[in-house]
Amino acid sequence: MRYLAAMLVSLSLGMSAAHAEDTVRLKILVYGATGNIGSLVVDEALSRGHAVTAVSRDPTQIKQSHRNLSAVKGDLLDEDSIAGLVVDQDVVIISVRGIIGKSKSPESALQRIAVEKVVNVLRDLNCSSPRLIHVGGAGTLEVEPGVLYADKLPKVFLPKSLELEIRGQVLALEYLRTVDDVKWSYATPAKNFTNGARTGEFRLGGDQLMENAKGRSKISRADFAVALVDEAENANYVRQRFSVAY
Ligand SMILES: NC(=O)c1ccc[n+]([C@@H]2O[C@H](COP(=O)([O-])OP(=O)(O)OC[C@H]3O[C@@H](n4cnc5c(N)ncnc54)[C@H](OP(=O)(O)O)[C@@H]3O)[C@@H](O)[C@H]2O)c1
Repeated sequence: MRYLAAMLVSLSLGMSAAHAEDTVRLKILVYGATGNIGSLVVDEALSRGHAVTAVSRDPTQIKQSHRNLSAVKGDLLDEDSIAGLVVDQDVVIISVRGIIGKSKSPESALQRIAVEKVVNVLRDLNCSSPRLIHVGGAGTLEVEPGVLYADKLPKVFLPKSLELEIRGQVLALEYLRTVDDVKWSYATPAKNFTNGARTGEFRLGGDQLMENAKGRSKISRADFAVALVDEAENANYVRQRFSVAY
């Protein structure tokens, strides 16, 4: 209710200081803070008054500057590094991409490797463990019962590395669905990201790919970041996947 009240005030005032003052301040760790999505998540969380720790393998690449922002070095391939960063955080957001090594297996997608490493570390923290929000891929969404969007992609035009990442995201979701001792959420964007403005207006769904009246499935990166920070604040989708589209 408190958050709803803050939202209504914010809507009437635009994105206002009222929002930052009325919500509980969280400590949010963002992996992928230099990335397309992660950098907007950092901005969105800061605008709401949260304390953000932005992670990069090279923190000099984190361009924002804010009194509530710390830029730190971290690598998702290194569990000791993860363990040193997640302690005392309320929420860990993973929004990364990459293929590790030369394997042609989706098991080598960073998205798949990262969730397991972070879950291993969070599991060891037991009750004091932060929640995990993993940014997934639209390939994991169903386009018809039992058929994923990933199954329908035309492989001839798809770069091999992208195909591995898409399959890696499917594996990441399958893995998370076996995890019942860590509070995870898997956030899935629409088929297409746009550079459109932050509107704060979008639909939230589940396993099915959402399309608008024109049959398009899209969401702006800025609005997807809003949905991620909403989930950080509200924990509406613990141990679930949620999807975001107009
Ligand atoms: N429609 C869709 O389904 C769709 C479309 C696009 C993206 N996505 C998903 O959205 C997520 C983010 O994509 P993006 O386009 O924002 O990515 P991006 O701009 O390419 O950024 C990738 C990020 O990964 C980080 N990273 C790479 N290796 C790392 C490591 N070993 N440890 C820690 N961080 C590492 C990089 O950080 P540093 O280099 O600074 O360390 C960078 O910030 C991905 O999960 C992607 O699959 C989905």
